[in-house]
Parts: sequence; C-alpha cells; structure tokens
Amino acid sequence: MTKVDVLLGLQWGDEGKGKIVDVLTPNYDIIARFQGGPNAGHTLEFEGIKHVLHTIPSGIFRPGVLNLIGNGVVIDPVIFQKELEKLAPFNINLKERLALSKKAHLILPTHRLLDAASEHAKGHNKIGSTLKGIGPTYMDKTGRNGLRVGDIFLPNFKEKYNHLVEKHIGMLAHYEGFTYNLAELEGPWFEGIEVLRNLTAVDSEQFMYEAQKAGKKVLAEGAQGTMLDIDFGTYPFVTSSNTVTAGTCTGLGISPRSIGEVIGIFKAYCTRVGSGPFPTELMNEVGQAIRKEGNEFGATTGRERRCGWIDLPALKYAIMINGVTELSMMKADVLSIFDEIKVCTHYIVDGEKMDYLPYDINNLDVQPVYESVPGWNCDLTGLSSWAEAPAELKNYVSYLEEKLETPITVVSVGPDRVQTLQTK
Ligand code: GDP
Ligand code: IMO
Ligand code: MG
Repeated sequence: MTKVDVLLGLQWGDEGKGKIVDVLTPNYDIIARFQGGPNAGHTLEFEGIKHVLHTIPSGIFRPGVLNLIGNGVVIDPVIFQKELEKLAPFNINLKERLALSKKAHLILPTHRLLDAASEHAKGHNKIGSTLKGIGPTYMDKTGRNGLRVGDIFLPNFKEKYNHLVEKHIGMLAHYEGFTYNLAELEGPWFEGIEVLRNLTAVDSEQFMYEAQKAGKKVLAEGAQGTMLDIDFGTYPFVTSSNTVTAGTCTGLGISPRSIGEVIGIFKAYCTRVGSGPFPTELMNEVGQAIRKEGNEFGATTGRERRCGWIDLPALKYAIMINGVTELSMMKADVLSIFDEIKVCTHYIVDGEKMDYLPYDINNLDVQPVYESVPGWNCDLTGLSSWAEAPAELKNYVSYLEEKLETPITVVSVGPDRVQTLQTK
C-alpha cells in the first residue's frame, strides 16, 4: 500500500496551494481534493497562461494524472460546468482524467440562496462567506438531508430534489424581505447535472484503496486553510469543513495509517479574506503595500485580502494540528519591498504572554509582539536556484525553520511554475 501525501494551507487560505500542487504533480499518479468546493480558488500559472480552478484538482493540466474529487467535496454543477468549459481549449480527456465520488454532496441553487439570506441577516456579524452555498450544503450533509452525486443516476432524483427544495423554501420564508427567482437558477443547474452524468463517477474509497494497493502515488490537495477549519479555525469565522490533515481520511475514505508526508504551505506574510480575527493585520500603508505588491485580491470573489505580517503562534498551531513534515514558503518576492521584515513571535493577551492561540480570540484583545529581521530588498523573481538567493532571504528561512522546528523545502519567488526554488 502506498501512502497518501497531503498538501494543505496553514493560514487563512490562498497560500498558493494550486501553484505547488501543479509543481509537484509530475511526482504523482493521482491528485485528490478532499473537502471544500467552489469557495476555493486555486491559481496555476505556466507558459504565460493563468488558470483558476475551483472544484477541479490542480493536477488537471498534466497528462497521465488522474484527478479525483472526493466524497468530502461539495459540488455546484453550474460552477463545475463553467470550469469544464474553460478547460475546453486544452483538449483534456475529462472522462479519463477526472473522477468524482458518488458520495460528494451537491450544492443546490437554494443552498446558495440560504447562504446569501443567512449572511444578510447576520449584518455586521457576517462570516464574509464566498456565497457559494458551502455552509448550507454541509449543514444538509450532517443533517442527513443532502443530495449526492450518486443520486443523479437514480430514477427518483427529481423527486428527491423537489423534496429538499421544498424544505429550503420554507427556511427562506423566515428571512423577511429576501426575494429570489428560483426558476431562473434551476435551468443552468439541471444543465450542469447533465454534464455531471457524463463524467466518471466512482466509489472513491474503493478507488483509493485499489490505487494504493497498485502502488499509485497520491497527493491530496487541501482547500482553504487550517485557520478556516470548522473545528480548529477562528470559529465561527471559518468554513464548514475540516481543512486539516484529518479531513483527508474522511474526505477520501482512506485510513489514518496511510498518511505519508504532510506539506504545509504558508505565505512569507499573512492574508485573510472575509471577516474574523487576524492578530497581525496591518490596517495601514504597510498592509496596503503588501496588498499591492502581492496582488492580494480573491481568486474566487475578487475581494481585497486583508494583509499582515507572518504569525508564528498561528503557524505553530497549524503545524501541530496537521502533523506537518515539511513546509513551502510562498510569495517571498512580495517582501522584497521592505528593508525590515517583522515576525510575530507571540501575543500579549490581557497582559499575559502567550505563544499559542487563545480560545476566545474573537473577543479578547490579542496584541502581537514582533521581532525584526533584515529584508533582502532585491528582486527575487528571476532566481533559478536557491544557491543564488540573497543571504538575508536564506537567513529569514533559517530563522523560521528554527522557530517552527520544521524544514522549509520550497521557497516560491513568483506565480509561475518555474519560479520555485528547492532549498534542500
Ligand atoms: P490557493 O487558493 O492557495 O491556491 O492560492 P490562490 O491562487 O488563491 O492565491 C495565490 C496567489 O498568489 C495567486 O494569484 C498565485 O498566482 C500567486 N502566487 C503563488 N505563488 C506566488 C509567489 O511566490 N509570488 C507571487 N508574487 N505570487 C504567487
Ligand atoms: P482557497 O482554497 C480564502 C473564507 C471566506 C469566509 C469563510 C467562509 O482558495 O484557499 P465559505 O464560503 O467557505 O462559507 O466562507 O472562509 N474562504 C476562503 N478564504 N481562501 C479560500 O479558499 C476560502 N474559502 C473560503 O472568505 O471568510
Ligand atoms: Mg485561493
């Protein structure tokens, strides 16, 4: 049995997972998504073209690699169809290169409406959801009401759909003044269902078991980030799935004993999109400079990402929860604009020093405490080997490795596939 390697985000998402999965794909036979859905936006850049994937795993552009959408993922047939259409110019044999778990849940148009209505009702306390219907779909999954990919092949699928929609319409009626036109949304949705019917649907747990037995190498691709995990993130400002390594087991149907390497990915600084606590957020010109230099705007929603310095207590927590064995540090090039880089080493919470995340991070006064590290102040984007990297960057990496007690094996210096340095 081969082990399954995992790559996941250690911060609040958008760390650069898509890029690194694409870089690593030649080492694997299968790339598998295990949670999340179209709330994700994973960017890949190569040969002068930028691709953004939402539900489809980031191995789709490499010939000979099977991309699996696991049972833990939630699928919106409308967004999925659009994603497939964008792939059309690349002549990818989707029937062969893509497989979906029959147990993956479907996002209904009414899930999206419920997401919007719930966010609207929350007012100032809104989560800042991507409005893709993620929360309501996972609620129906755990509430045992959901529709799954396998259901679309059943003769009574429409009946099941109507039954669930009826329930949702009842729920929507509680949101006073919330108006919608369901018929308009249903047309494209059923069109998307037809597209799904023509793809390869599998029993993914069985599929994974056979693949592992046959010696296939698998990389599980996380979505979102550890600080957005439903259990371990900054609840309630989180997504509705387990984004951590443990989610790989439940989201693909593999045994905990088959987890191999865990590659944790983080930005050389920190970003967050949507509401919720962010201890190192910089609401000043430094934060704006990072946003501008890093082009920090959401790949799914286009929203401005909030920016701040790197947060070691949060990173250490993420490394602990995930059992990270190696790290990839992204967007080092963005910090080239600074003479001095700040690193949050611990927090002061109610006058007390803490180097881990307090329970009630949302309501406590969490003050980050920083150490300064010299910047490199030069362009990194043309570097082709780690040996050529400036001493200050090497120093930043060794400093973080020591603090995080984990090796940083990859340093990324630009969005393109080739702008990736192996440090070991
Ligand atoms: P993901 O959700 O984790 O896959 O990350 P996103 O694609 O949402 O956001 C990462 C953004 O940073 C994308 O626009 C990438 O093209 C870009 N990116 C990735 N690595 C680097 C890097 O090392 N430097 C720069 N400047 N951009 C990068
Ligand atoms: P990738 O995979 C960054 C955030 C939303 C919101 C919260 C809940 O590209 O890293 P949801 O729509 O899931 O109910 O939103 O989670 N969020 C993300 N932030 N990257 C993502 O995915 C995200 N997916 C969800 O902004 O704060
Ligand atoms: Mg993203």
